Amino acid sequence: MSKSILIRLGNRPICLTLLTLVFLLVFECSITINAAEGQDDTNGDSGEDSACLKGFVDAFFDSGQMSGRSTPFASWTSSALQGNPCMNSAGAKKLAGVTCNSRNRVESIDLPSEGLVGELPSSVSLCSFLANLDLSSNGITGDIPVSLGNLPNLVTLSLAHNQISGLIPLELSSCYMLKSLDLRNNNLSGPIPAQLGLLPLLEFNVSYNNLSGSIPFTLSNTSSGSPRFGGTSFLHNPGLHGYPLPDEGSESTKASTSQKKIDHAIFGITILFTVGVACCLFLLCALYAGYCRTCRERGIVRKDLEQNRLSASRSSVDDGVDGWKEVLSQLSRSS
Ligand SMILES: *[C@@H]1O[C@H](CO)[C@@H](O)[C@H](O)[C@H]1NC(C)=O
Ligand SMILES: *[C@@H]1O[C@H](CO)[C@@H](O)[C@H](O)[C@H]1NC(C)=O
Ligand SMILES: *[C@@H]1O[C@H](CO)[C@@H](O)[C@H](O)[C@H]1NC(C)=O
Ligand SMILES: *[C@@H]1O[C@H](CO)[C@@H](O)[C@H](O)[C@H]1NC(C)=O
Repeated sequence: MSKSILIRLGNRPICLTLLTLVFLLVFECSITINAAEGQDDTNGDSGEDSACLKGFVDAFFDSGQMSGRSTPFASWTSSALQGNPCMNSAGAKKLAGVTCNSRNRVESIDLPSEGLVGELPSSVSLCSFLANLDLSSNGITGDIPVSLGNLPNLVTLSLAHNQISGLIPLELSSCYMLKSLDLRNNNLSGPIPAQLGLLPLLEFNVSYNNLSGSIPFTLSNTSSGSPRFGGTSFLHNPGLHGYPLPDEGSESTKASTSQKKIDHAIFGITILFTVGVACCLFLLCALYAGYCRTCRERGIVRKDLEQNRLSASRSSVDDGVDGWKEVLSQLSRSS
């Protein structure tokens, strides 16, 4: 009995050592795996960020050159974009308008008012850690690339003050971190996807476009029914209607309002014309009446004169007749 206990006791340290070794091995492994994962991010092994930024150079470099001023792409040299642009010693974190996060991935691209002319490259979606994209106040044309929907980390997107046309892609509603979406002053058409309202948006502006349809309830009101974004977020879209836009904001109401105005104007003009004509007629009548009175007076005078003349002549005839009567009676008396 005592022997077996001794053996067990003697074995225990061995067991402990073995267990410790296994634990250490597992720990080591997990550290190595973690490190490898970290390595994946920091190295940008796939060159995604590089390909993403090269797409911007291809899309906008020429316009930057043509604007004849210092272009942000002067620093976006091919050597700076080699490998991982966030780690590259040539360009490392010196790319104008680009910032990297702590994991050495491109986090922000800020190129507002840089005179960029061209279409937003769909390669933007390769910057998979992109949180902020500001390309406002440039000359960007074409559509919003649907690939933007592949940016799950996107928090702010501003494409305001460009000439972007086409639809607001439904895919944007896949950017489920999006808090600020500014598309004002572009040439976007079609409806506003209601799914955008499901995003945690705090800022939203699509004013001054060519959007149509009714404003989705998800953007005009919160789920509890209280107002979400005000009318100024939707202003100046000729075909857009519904709350929170004022009623006369809709094209048809505006048209009917102006039609009403025209009708009123026509009514007013008609009344004025009628009154005018009536006045003229009255004046004419009055003048005529006045003329008539003088006429009549003259007429009476003339009649009187005529009557006088007539009676005068009649009396002279009578005189004549009487004369003859007298002559005849004198003749008959003498014979
Ligand atoms: C806006 O887009 C329409 C097509 O939807 C196009 O005909 C028009 O020229 C564009 N206007 C501007 C200012 O880009
Ligand atoms: C607005 O969009 C419609 C198509 O929805 C297009 O026919 C029209 O030309 C656009 N207007 C402007 C000013 O771009
Ligand atoms: C949205 O909110 C406004 C303002 O509170 C309210 O007048 C309107 O009825 C709401 N719309 C809906 C559909 O609940
Ligand atoms: C939306 O943009 C328009 C045009 O720049 C501006 O007047 C309006 O105040 C903006 N509204 C919001 C809520 O940002």
